[in-house]
Amino acid sequence: MLDEIKNIRTEIEKKIPNIKTADDIEKFRLEFLVKKGSIQLLFDRLKDVPKEEKPLIGKELNLLRNFAEETYKSLKEKFEKESQSVPDIDLTLPGRIGFTGSRHPVLLTMNEMVNIFVRLGFDVAEGPDIEDEYHNFDALNFPPDHPARDMQDTFFIESDRKLLLRTHTSPVQIRVMKGMKPPIRCIMPGRVYRNEAINARSLAEFHQIEGLYVDKHVTLAELKGTLIKFAKQMYGSNSKFRFRPSFFPFTEPSAELDISCFLCGGEGCRVCKHSGWLEIAGCGMVHPNVLKECGIDPEVYSGYAFGFGIERVTMLRTGIDDIRLLYENDVRVLEQF
Ligand code: DAH
Repeated sequence: MLDEIKNIRTEIEKKIPNIKTADDIEKFRLEFLVKKGSIQLLFDRLKDVPKEEKPLIGKELNLLRNFAEETYKSLKEKFEKESQSVPDIDLTLPGRIGFTGSRHPVLLTMNEMVNIFVRLGFDVAEGPDIEDEYHNFDALNFPPDHPARDMQDTFFIESDRKLLLRTHTSPVQIRVMKGMKPPIRCIMPGRVYRNEAINARSLAEFHQIEGLYVDKHVTLAELKGTLIKFAKQMYGSNSKFRFRPSFFPFTEPSAELDISCFLCGGEGCRVCKHSGWLEIAGCGMVHPNVLKECGIDPEVYSGYAFGFGIERVTMLRTGIDDIRLLYENDVRVLEQF
């Protein structure tokens, strides 16, 4: 009988890996665990076993029955768990494509401009978006009746006109010059605001990058050299540039920097208003009144300053010809850059 007990045990062990369905489990129960099952039949025969063998065989039989019961129990539990965890989804549906964000093209342009100037030795400074009249206009040598101070151009925050949204990044020049001593070599990127009608070329909110270099013997030739060096790195060495005389209250002399039109290559087209040139920066030698206002002696020091519009530069690089596309937040536009 001991052999039979052993055989049943091996039989069970062999069966386990093949038991997969609820039917298989039920078959297992009927074979081993019911009254007419093979194990109970052995128990029935126990009464005929000689007295001295009974304790051993009885013990083995009990062990076998326990083993069969445990196996049945664990198979059942496993099956129930598995049948519950079948996911309630349609596996034939197409997968979802992950969406990764990207940097905004204006930010990309700004970072690249900042990087070039940093390599040329400029530090980076920032100032507040909400400015006062003093930093935005007075200290920059704007006369009291200058048209830029008009409500039509400037968003004033309070009716007494003392606080406003800065109309350019030039007020940061004042903060920098008042905060440190020459030599000063700084760029100042940031957002600016103007009360302008919105159209394909202009928005009421845009970005500028301001530059300032103040030291002894700073010359216009250095300004030209630095800006051309920057512009060639930014636009490629084949681009053509020109300086055109201009006027700003805070620089004397003043100039504007033009680049040959990217679209027509200088032939003249709609984008460059048929001139072949696009204006990308204002610049000039810092006006002595501005230096004086900041406590810097114009007899000892001189300086140059410049200001680029970042959206314009972004449009040049991306070929986007309507500035509004940059801020409509249409992912189909923005994800291309
Ligand atoms: N602030 C000027 C503007 O918004 C741009 C500018 C012109 C900045 C000449 C400068 C400069 O620093 O020297 O139109």
